[in-house]
Amino acid sequence: MELISGKEIQELTFREIREEVQSLKDKGIEACLAVIIVGNDPASRVYVNNKKKACETVGIKSLEYALPEETTTEELLDLIEKLNSDEAVNGILCQLPVPKHINKLAVIESISPEKDVDCFHPVNVGKLSLGRAQLVPCTPAGVIRMLDVAGVEIEGKRAVVIGRSDIVGKPMGIMLMERNATVTVCHSKTKDLSSITKQADILVATVGKQKLVTADMVKEGAVVIDVGINRNGEGKLCGDVDFENVAPHCSKITPVPGGVGPMTITMLMKNTVTATKIQNNIK
Ligand code: GUN
Repeated sequence: MELISGKEIQELTFREIREEVQSLKDKGIEACLAVIIVGNDPASRVYVNNKKKACETVGIKSLEYALPEETTTEELLDLIEKLNSDEAVNGILCQLPVPKHINKLAVIESISPEKDVDCFHPVNVGKLSLGRAQLVPCTPAGVIRMLDVAGVEIEGKRAVVIGRSDIVGKPMGIMLMERNATVTVCHSKTKDLSSITKQADILVATVGKQKLVTADMVKEGAVVIDVGINRNGEGKLCGDVDFENVAPHCSKITPVPGGVGPMTITMLMKNTVTATKIQNNIK
């Protein structure tokens, strides 16, 4: 059994991104990401700080817009409109969740698709499903990157995704299909889950339920990717996979923490560079 380390793959990918950012700087172009946070959610604050830190690491300029809890949808849309038309801004993201009184869909749809580095806009989701994506959803793209760096062949393999969320499960299924895997997406209404997961050469768990994947659900030699982030009874971070008992049966597995987690921000940096290149007509 081999661990796939998100931290190591992040470092490797950051080195590549740093070089791309520098070569843009040599052309007089400064890649810039605008991050919007509304209200005082402590988890969101941590995520936004991590995103700013990652920008610093790779040399991307970051702008933070911290708006008060009582911000209206209209005020938020006004800010996004301003950032959409600002040529110095290449990527825009609004940290979710936004306060309940804000129209989340209107926010997502107001971000210019060319600057939508989260890949949440319906235009970008549509392009992804047509195999024409330029910007890609960060977490599933991070999983694909991990599989590639770890030397896992995807083509022709049976891939099973547990979870069908708009930001991970669904796009994960699409991206694995795009890479010619035979894909099954399971969810809370799936009957006899383990009979399906046992067929998986590549098993991706993205539900948010600790110990959902147990040893009897995994084929000998499978590659297991754990996207879940949960806290166990002792307050320790854990994934959706019963790591201790599943790992001995895997050829490769991602740990939690230090697995998929760091890859989301990594691919956000990559998307910001991609957006910058597209906006400046650079191949
Ligand atoms: N909240 C949790 N994950 C994400 C993410 O990937 N992007 C944004 N914008 N908000 C989030």
